[in-house]
Amino acid sequence: MIPKSFIQDLLNRLDIVDVIERYVPLKKSGANYAACCPFHNEKSPSFTVSQSKQFYHCFGCGAHGTAISFVMEHAGMGFIDAVEELSRSIGVEVPRETPIPGQVQHKVAPDLYELMQAATRYYREQLKQSPRAIAYLKQRGLSGEVAARFGIGYAPEAWQNLTGITASYQDASLVDTGMVIEGDSGKRYDRFRDRIMFPIINARGQVIGFGGRILDSGEPKYLNSPETVLFEKGHELYGLFQAQKAIRAHQQVVVVEGYMDVVALAQHGVEYAVATLGTATTPFHVQKLLRLAEQVVFCFDGDAAGQRAAWRALENSLPHLVDGKRIGFLFLPKEHDPDSYIREHGTEAFEQLLHDSLPLSGYLLRELSSKVDLRTQEGRSILLEQAKPLLMAISAPAMALLIRKEVAALAGITQLELEALYGVKAVGAQPRKAMQKASRPAVSNFRFLLRCLLYQPDLARELPEELLVDGPEVEAILELRSWLISQQGEVSSAALIQYFQGTAHETLMATEQAEIMQWGETFDVAAEFQGILSKLREILRKKKFDEFNHEMAGKSVNTLNEQERALYLRLSKPG
Ligand code: UTP
Ligand code: MN
Repeated sequence: MIPKSFIQDLLNRLDIVDVIERYVPLKKSGANYAACCPFHNEKSPSFTVSQSKQFYHCFGCGAHGTAISFVMEHAGMGFIDAVEELSRSIGVEVPRETPIPGQVQHKVAPDLYELMQAATRYYREQLKQSPRAIAYLKQRGLSGEVAARFGIGYAPEAWQNLTGITASYQDASLVDTGMVIEGDSGKRYDRFRDRIMFPIINARGQVIGFGGRILDSGEPKYLNSPETVLFEKGHELYGLFQAQKAIRAHQQVVVVEGYMDVVALAQHGVEYAVATLGTATTPFHVQKLLRLAEQVVFCFDGDAAGQRAAWRALENSLPHLVDGKRIGFLFLPKEHDPDSYIREHGTEAFEQLLHDSLPLSGYLLRELSSKVDLRTQEGRSILLEQAKPLLMAISAPAMALLIRKEVAALAGITQLELEALYGVKAVGAQPRKAMQKASRPAVSNFRFLLRCLLYQPDLARELPEELLVDGPEVEAILELRSWLISQQGEVSSAALIQYFQGTAHETLMATEQAEIMQWGETFDVAAEFQGILSKLREILRKKKFDEFNHEMAGKSVNTLNEQERALYLRLSKPG
């Protein structure tokens, strides 16, 4: 495996401006460099590269990352390949750590990734040797290239296939990654046996789980990796890593239900499809996809389960709609899923259906009005009742307004009457001052702290943990701090960003990264950092003082004992 310290070294030695210039011409623009974004179509440059901080951010499509992420995304390479490519470009050899056999190693996540990679290699190797598995994939219309693109493999029938990929089958990591199951008697066996294997890959190109399909008919049809430290189902989308480039190029993504749907669509040239992993579409999925593309189309199977899945997707999309972006719903004929449809009718027919997909608003109104009798007062009042929570969940102002208008029209009332009924404050009626305030929210202390840390990560070493309480950013700051403390030597902003790629905090980091790009070279980060620390200290003091007063429940200062009095004196004064 590649030692972690090497990644930091590599990022320190590279210049992101050189790396990106190999692919995209950059122009100096203020403190940064700019270009038209290579990841989406645009006419004016919103792709920005910070040379001092060694990262990039596109203010148009949200693409972001380090030199390594750039090569991964632009050239469609995996993490290891990108690291090798970049090392070669500056004439550095990638060092390899070979695990010492017999030595008990502390299993941190990167080792688990290596294990998943080894399993993937093993399954792919086995596929080549199984005529039965090859015949199955052929019969489902897959070519060798597409199977390779998705890393598809085969797990043979035996109980302990994975013996060969670690030093010992008793290794805890086999159970931790969900690859091996330990029975009640302590006996271990492979989770996946005699199945076609679909690796599930995260945004960094690392394998985090598998789906395994039975070759013949049998139950269960698919076995999936359980949730592990590597794999959180509600956050991942099957096929996203392979689809990223096509999604950006088409500014469109199709969400389907099954592994085979993604693979079959790619086989027919629709490379911008992803699948949820046997779960409903989560709000997290919706946000992620809306950042990547102008249009998201949900295309579920034509059966009743597909209808339910579509409605769940709608519900979870409402709070994350973005004005100007489109969410569509495509309902296939009952007997079809995307795989069977595109095989029977071809790519053009499928893309036409995508093009004609029902917009979210149309689907919402269709479903609401289909359940009631609009000819009666009762029916119309039920409509208003049922529409309320859905409409109130929409945060995109223009979209919310337009849908309110339509629901009002369906119910035979005016828009104003509907808004009064729902308690919606009409936008135009808000006092000017309040509007201005709302549109430019003050940055919270922790956000600002996070920005300082991104700007100069080593400041995290001086950050007292006791100040980190209550705040949505605190979890990210704590993780940043503990990672940084575990590192030797200075840590660059780029190394930090690289570390958070593909984690739950990636989005937050990307947002704040975009903010600090605007900070000039003269920004006195050390002073700002001290400033924010004293603010946080003061907040903590006030809180403790309140608690103290509460505990003492109105005792007079004169009746306090010596210890209490000292505490009182310390807590009562600022600074
Ligand atoms: P489908 O049955 O539609 O899958 O289930 P598919 O990909 O079209 O499979 P083929 O075409 O029959 O090979 C949709 C998804 O639901 C999950 C899987 O993620 C699957 O891709 N699923 C389904 C399971 O996890 N377990 C099951 O037994 C079935
Ligand atoms: Mn199918």
